This record gives sequence, C-alpha cells and structure tokens, in this order.
Amino acid sequence: MSGTASPRLIANWKANLAPGEEVELARQIALRGSARQLAPGSLLIAPSAIGLVAVASLLRREHAELKIGVVAQDCSSDDPGARTGEIPASHLIGVADAVILGHSERRARGEDGRAIGAKVARCIDAGIVPIVCLGDLDARATDVERCDAVVDQWRGVLAGAAALQREEAAVSTSGIIIAYEPVWAIGSGRPARPETVAAVARALRSEAELTSAPLLYGGSVDGKSAAGYVGGSGAERVDGLLIGGASLEVESLFQIAAAVGVSR
Ligand code: 13P
Repeated sequence: MSGTASPRLIANWKANLAPGEEVELARQIALRGSARQLAPGSLLIAPSAIGLVAVASLLRREHAELKIGVVAQDCSSDDPGARTGEIPASHLIGVADAVILGHSERRARGEDGRAIGAKVARCIDAGIVPIVCLGDLDARATDVERCDAVVDQWRGVLAGAAALQREEAAVSTSGIIIAYEPVWAIGSGRPARPETVAAVARALRSEAELTSAPLLYGGSVDGKSAAGYVGGSGAERVDGLLIGGASLEVESLFQIAAAVGVSR
C-alpha cells in the first residue's frame, strides 16, 4: 500500500460472526462490489481466525477481479512448534496478505510492546504486512498528549522487534502499516477529530522508521465521517480506514466506500 494509492479500507470483523456468517457476508460484499464498481485492491477483509481460510478461498475463487485482500486479526509471537493454539505468521503465507497487530482489544488482554514487536518481526520474516495498531486511552487528553502516547507505544513495539535481533533499520523498510485507533473512539460513536488524526500522523511520521509508512485511522468511522479523514498531504496524509462495526453490514460498508471514492 503506497502513500499515493487510492484509499484502502480494512473491515475488521473482530469476533462478531460465526464462520458461515463471515463467508456469507464476504459473498454479499463481493456481489455489491461488482455492482458498485469497487476499485480493485481498495478493500481488505479481516475475518476471525476460524473463518479466514474459507473467506480467502471464496474471494480468490469467485471474485478474484475485485482483488479484495484478506487480513488476519492476530498471529503468534513465536515460531512454529509445540505451541498449542498459536497461529505462527509463517502459517498465514498464501492465506493472509496482512495481519492486524496490537489492537487495543488485545492489549487490554495483556499484550505489550515487546510481544507486539516480536509479532511484527515474525510477519516481516514471513513476508506478510504488519498493520500495527496504536492508540491513546484518555478521551480528555490534549492532542499533544495523544501524540506522545502513540509515539511511546510505537517505540515499545520497535524495541520488541529489535529484541528479536532485527536491525531497527530493517524494520523501517519493511512495509509496515500504522493504524491510529484511539481507544476511546472505538465502538463509542465518538470518532476522533480529523485534526487530531492529522496531528498523530505527523508525530508518528517524525519517527525515523515511519517517515513513509501508510497510516490508517480507525474508531467509529461511518459513512458520514469517513471522507473527513482520508487524503491530506505530506506527513499528515491518511491512507485509509480500519472499520469495525460499520463493516458488518453491506450497506454501511459501501456508504464508506462511496464516501472515500472507491465505489459508486
Ligand atoms: P469501530 O469502527 O466499531 O469503532 O471499531 C474500530 C476498530 O476497532 C477497528 O479495528
């Protein structure tokens, strides 16, 4: 995903749907995408781990022309081996194009920068794009405080990746995508102000490793708010959106797609 490409939308379905429902929703989205001239490559879908393979094979088999990407919602911080229940990044090769890492809903379950950094390094090794989520916690904080919080989080992730003997410079050139998702905006109906997102984008891109990283915004995005985020120029550019609740219905997802100009 380059900085000059048309906006990318990532539908994060979290753990909302059973796998059969995920396949059905993916089918409906693809059918609507064909009818509404969805720009090829503009949409990626992140189903649950259990629905991932079925959704990927449906989209590639029956709707390849739309180039809808498939994203995992997490992966293991470890290599393959005797680790019951884990999904190593290398096992996602050929299934997922990217992996969401460090979502606040996982950080809330105890995941820290060190673990997220290790996952980033595993994804880079596997050739899978890491989408690193960063987000401040306090709805009443100032933009300066938010910028400090997310930059700190990023440095924690970078240190975690470096602890796995990766050169920090290697991390910088590896196609990481950043998703700014303020925790107070997720699922709250109170999206961040576009000016706040621009300030955070600028602060993160002043970090040496992130100067050219694509940046997504996520948190209560809907058809009304979507167009206010994407675009911009230079270090304040926002390259796309990470969408939760509004991605669970075809209609609301396509309102966003139309608002940012990737479908009719
Ligand atoms: P909502 O769009 O439901 O606020 O969720 C955002 C999110 O967490 C996407 O990862």
